[in-house]
Amino acid sequence: MAYETIIVEIEDHIALVKLNRPDALNALNAQLLTELADAMTAAQANDKVRCIVLTGSEKAFAAGADIKMMSEKSYTEVFTEDLFGGETAEIGRVRKPIIAAVSGYALGGGCELAMLCDFIIASDTAKFGQPEVNLGVMAGIGGTQRLTRAIGKAKAMDMNLTGRFMDAEEAERAGLVSRIVPAKKLMEETMAAAAKIAEKSMISVSAIKEAVNRSFEVPLAEGLLFERRLFHSMFATEDQKEGMAAFVEKRTPQFRDR
Ligand code: HXC
Repeated sequence: MAYETIIVEIEDHIALVKLNRPDALNALNAQLLTELADAMTAAQANDKVRCIVLTGSEKAFAAGADIKMMSEKSYTEVFTEDLFGGETAEIGRVRKPIIAAVSGYALGGGCELAMLCDFIIASDTAKFGQPEVNLGVMAGIGGTQRLTRAIGKAKAMDMNLTGRFMDAEEAERAGLVSRIVPAKKLMEETMAAAAKIAEKSMISVSAIKEAVNRSFEVPLAEGLLFERRLFHSMFATEDQKEGMAAFVEKRTPQFRDR
């Protein structure tokens, strides 16, 4: 598929996916989400890709779902199309790690898209918010669910009910982002994190992603059992033998994803 609203570059085992609707602050419309889901699915299928980075522009990661597009929709249309349900589910099925590099606005669907990634690295200019309430609607792709799990009820209610923005420092304190870096260093630091992940065994990386995500779905005892069995299963891999042998022999492991 040729893309018009995103740019994809694959280098050194990292797929860098850049949202590219600068005139609309990367607002998410049907075309962008279709292209994004396609690019993510292609990155999952591409053996050369070991980690994915999703980013926007310096001013905006994404300022939300496209309000101009949505303003013309009826209930029947959004319900029948399941607006944004299919594309976000596709992105959610990607088993490779996805890091969101967020600079500037990550609002509404933009904040939700960042939360759909595995973790968020924010520039010191990042601003997060769920301002849908100002439009007479509410969050629709995770702003009341993933945000509540990430930062707790008090702050999630505050963000969703008042529509206020959270700066990078508050977002880090609250647990929404994993780290803050100066705006100029955002891509360098994020690509370095992606490169670190790309060095690991893809078997452990995918299993870790599955296990952490599982913690949101099941009770603790079930989650712990799931984790322990996955851990046990790794002793069937060559990468476990290699990783542990390399430690004992004081050398760098050569993982082969087997
Ligand atoms: C469509 C958008 C947009 C959006 C910005 N633009 N956000 N277009 N949808 N979500 C467009 C503007 O109309 C404008 O285009 C251009 O981008 C630049 O934006 P400005 O407003 O001029 O920039 P600025 O004054 O710097 O303000 C930035 C901003 C503001 C604070 C981010 O744009 C803003 O409040 N945007 C809307 C944020 C929002 O409400 N997001 C939630 C959307 S609902 P023109 O052509 O006029 O120059 C949502 C639902 C998710 O996300 C659930 C889905 C299922």
